[in-house]
Order: sequence, then C-alpha cells, then structure tokens
Amino acid sequence: MDTKIKTIGVLTSGGDAPGMNAAIRGVVRAAISNGMQVKGIYQGYKGLLNEEFEDLDARSMSDTISKGGTILYTARCKEFHELEVQKQAAEICRKHGIQGLVVIGGDGSFAGARALSKQGIHVVGVPGTIDLDIACSDYTIGFDTAVNTAMEAIDKVRDTSTSHERCSIIEVMGRNAGYLALWCGIANGAEDIILPETYDYDEQKLIDHIIDNRRRGKKLHIIINAEGIGHSASMARRIEAATGVETRATILGHMQRGGSPTCRDRVAGTMMGAYAVELLAKGTYNRVVAYKHGDYVDYDIEEALNMQKELPEFMVRVSKAMSV
Ligand code: ADP
Ligand code: F6P
Repeated sequence: MDTKIKTIGVLTSGGDAPGMNAAIRGVVRAAISNGMQVKGIYQGYKGLLNEEFEDLDARSMSDTISKGGTILYTARCKEFHELEVQKQAAEICRKHGIQGLVVIGGDGSFAGARALSKQGIHVVGVPGTIDLDIACSDYTIGFDTAVNTAMEAIDKVRDTSTSHERCSIIEVMGRNAGYLALWCGIANGAEDIILPETYDYDEQKLIDHIIDNRRRGKKLHIIINAEGIGHSASMARRIEAATGVETRATILGHMQRGGSPTCRDRVAGTMMGAYAVELLAKGTYNRVVAYKHGDYVDYDIEEALNMQKELPEFMVRVSKAMSV
C-alpha cells in the first residue's frame, strides 16, 4: 500500500503573528514541490469543525509574504478541549482526505494538535506567536516584528515623556511571558522592567528608584511593564502619589501584533513552513518544528509540550546593570 502523504491541511490558531502568511506560503509551495495537495483551513480549529476548507495552489499565496495577520484567519475554540470534539475533528480530516496537518500557532494550538495526533491524525506544529514563549524553540515567528513595533512606539512615548519630565509606564504584550518586555526594556533603555518571571510585587522598590534617580538628576523614568503583571494605570496613579512625579500609563495593545513582517519573520516563516512539509513528506509526524542554536530542528510534540523555558538570566542581569 502507498503510505505516502498526498494531501495535507494547514491552519493558523491562537493569536495571530506577523510572518504566519510566510509560513502558510512555505507550507503550500513546499507541498507542491513534494507533489502534495494542500487544503487551507480557515479560523483554526473552529473552521476545522465547521469544515471551512479551501484548496490552496501556488497562486493562492501570491502577494502574501509581506502581509501581516493571517490569510487563513485565526480563532480560539474552547470546545476543542473536549475529547468528543477532538474525535469529531479527526473524522472531518479523514472525510476530506487530510493525511497530515500543519498547525501554526503557540503552545495552546500545539496542545490541540497533540490531541488530534491521539486520534490518528499526523500533525506537525510550527511555532507562531509574538510571545517567544515556546519552550523547545529559541525563536517563534512574529516576535521580531512585534518587538520592533513595540520598540518604535516606546521611543515615541519616550520623546513626550522627556519633554514633560515624567515617569512613563508602558505595558507590552506577552501573556504570561516577559520576553517582549525584557527585549524592549534593553532596546529602549528602560529604568525598570517588570517581568512576570521575576517581579516580587514590591512597588516600594520602583518608587525608591524613581526618587533616587530624580535626586541624581535623571529627568525621565521609563518603566516597561509586562502584560502578565498588568494594572499599569493603577500603578501609575500610586507611583505619582508616592513620588510626586507626574506619571502616565500607556498600554500598547494589539498594534504590537500587526504590520508587515520583518525579514527575520518572513524567512523564519518560510523555512519553518517548508520544514514541516519535509517532515510529513518523509513520513515523520507528531513533531514540532523549532529553531535551536542556529538550526531548524524538530521535537516530538509530547516532549516539546513538556519542556520549560526560562528568561535568559544573563539578559535579565545586564538589563538591570544598564539602568544605573
Ligand atoms: P496559542 O496557540 O497562541 O497558545 P491559545 O492558548 O489561545 O493560543 O490556544 C489556541 C487554541 O488551541 C484554543 O482556542 C483551543 O482551540 C486549542 N487548545 C488550547 N489548549 C488546548 C488543549 N489543552 N487541548 C485541546 N485544544 C487546545
Ligand atoms: O499570544 C499572543 C497574544 O498577543 C498575547 O501576547 C496576549 O496575551 C494575547 O495574545 C491577547 O489575545 P487577544 O487577541 O485574544 O486579546
């Protein structure tokens, strides 16, 4: 019997990320090169359950590599946590002849893919999230664009904050992970960076730091706050009351997830999408594509989901040293 995969599906799931289109394009064109057909699945697992499919050919992907967002749309689908729903999704894949499925998304989306693998669907995960919080991979598609977008926005807040000699608390995305905050904190020269992984909730330390900096002649105080800590507006009110320094909060929000992907995200998306297809083409599945020590590699999906990731201690230490 010919066991070679002839038809694959591709979907994007969870929060979108710039470069997801490059990843879809990488999947579609690598699949065509390998003699496979591709079904695009709209709106992640929600669209899979609703059978929202479209055949994708090489031309379907024209003019997409430079576009932000995802042409397949994305969704969060609560029902997908239920075993019966996962079984139903696997049946739908079989009904449409989908022998392999590429899931572009974060850890949550990979948990959904792992559930499908348990129902006999051959899956490969591609890390797409601005949060950089996938343990098995040093890089996730979308981070570079998002961190540069945030950095540019923070530069602008910094200008007005300097003019008014204010303290600014700027909140960046990242769900429970502090990567965006840490990178912006270093790149924007923040006086303080509040990270979910290390924050001890001792606000007095921030207050003392602001007062001390004022005494030493520093006129500006930028605090990067991670979404995982949140409460930037109330924090700003308390800090202003305690220090007497005018303080404003800015929440950058979803603008960080949009925009044309950077070169890094276009290349990472293309490579990881194509890598996923090459795995399926050689009969390797239930894997997660990763970028590790400068190479594209893959891990067993179960192993990948069990890995833990920590903020690089050296970066955290240097970020503190830079704010003296
Ligand atoms: P991300 O993939 O960016 O981490 P989410 O955590 O929101 O995003 O997950 C995206 C979707 O993946 C969820 O809406 C749900 O459909 C599916 N999913 C998440 N966790 C699980 C799980 N444990 N089992 C099955 N499906 C899951
Ligand atoms: O996972 C990407 C992300 O942008 C997180 O940084 C953030 O916590 C979350 O998605 C926001 O999700 P939503 O678009 O549903 O508000």
